[in-house]
Amino acid sequence: MKEQLEAFQAAALDTIAQADTLSALEEARVKYLGRKGAITEILRGLGKVSAEERPAMGQLANVVKGAIGSALDDRKVELSATADAAREESEAVDLSLPGRRPQRGHIHMVNQVTEEIIDIFAGLGFQVAVGPDIETEFYNFDSLNTPADHPARDSHDTFFVKPGVVLRTHTSPVQMRVMEQVQPPVAVLAPGRVYRVDYDASHSPMFNQIEGLLVDEGVTFADLKGTLMHFVHHLFGKNTKVRFRPHFFPFTEPSAEMDISCTVCSGKGCRLCKNSGWLEALGCGMVHPEVFKHANYDYEKYSGFAFGLGIDRIAMLRHAVPSINHLYDNDLRFLEQF
Ligand code: DAH
Repeated sequence: MKEQLEAFQAAALDTIAQADTLSALEEARVKYLGRKGAITEILRGLGKVSAEERPAMGQLANVVKGAIGSALDDRKVELSATADAAREESEAVDLSLPGRRPQRGHIHMVNQVTEEIIDIFAGLGFQVAVGPDIETEFYNFDSLNTPADHPARDSHDTFFVKPGVVLRTHTSPVQMRVMEQVQPPVAVLAPGRVYRVDYDASHSPMFNQIEGLLVDEGVTFADLKGTLMHFVHHLFGKNTKVRFRPHFFPFTEPSAEMDISCTVCSGKGCRLCKNSGWLEALGCGMVHPEVFKHANYDYEKYSGFAFGLGIDRIAMLRHAVPSINHLYDNDLRFLEQF
């Protein structure tokens, strides 16, 4: 039995030394020391050993058990250390790697231009006013002296939400909403989205306008011209020339369109200005008495001017953008340039 125990110990220690993973080591423990393992098998043979020899054999069996036990413990410590080291290596963070910078966004070019324009007029005392994108036909048309048979109401231009309700086709209805709320003097600027059934290189079904309105006693067309020239010189530069052409708008009388000298060729003639030297910049005029009537303003006492400009158009003229749709396609290669 003594030889058997010694051979058993040798075999066990050998297996333990060769176990190269924690699970292989666990297998060895079960095989040699487990309840159904080899040592139990051997100890069962003690019964057949003579009474004199039995205590010594029992002792030897315990020594063998102890030796295998501590060999298992030692090897476990070794293997755990290697496993930890391997994990540390695979999970290691390389602190010298350059970090990934999050992309920094910026204000959309159209909003940048909007803010610039607001700043210029704020300097003259204009306040910002807003109105709803979904507007009644009354505010969008009737109150602005645009009768039901006016071509601007044509369903080809206007998005109808339901009878009597439209997506506003211009920011002019904000004029009326403001005048209903406050008595003169009034000086407001109303930026916002507007909608028209139109889609090509120079038209987008949604675009942006800024409406201006100033009402007080004794306001004249000269005030309108002076204000708009101040605006143009600040936005496009002191050397930009301005001209006013007679025009028609239902809500102003007299009405005009204002052109500015071409931002690309300074008036010499180029593709952008179609060789005319001029670019159409905005519509304007003196507020029509009919409009004042709707607002319950005394049109004998007060006069005022109004103007409306397309922000997208101004932004395109400033940055020589060939198609309005670039502004809304959300292509970062375009947007990042501004
Ligand atoms: N609402 C006009 C448009 O969308 C622009 C406009 C012209 C506004 C003259 C005005 C104005 O206030 O006086 O075409």
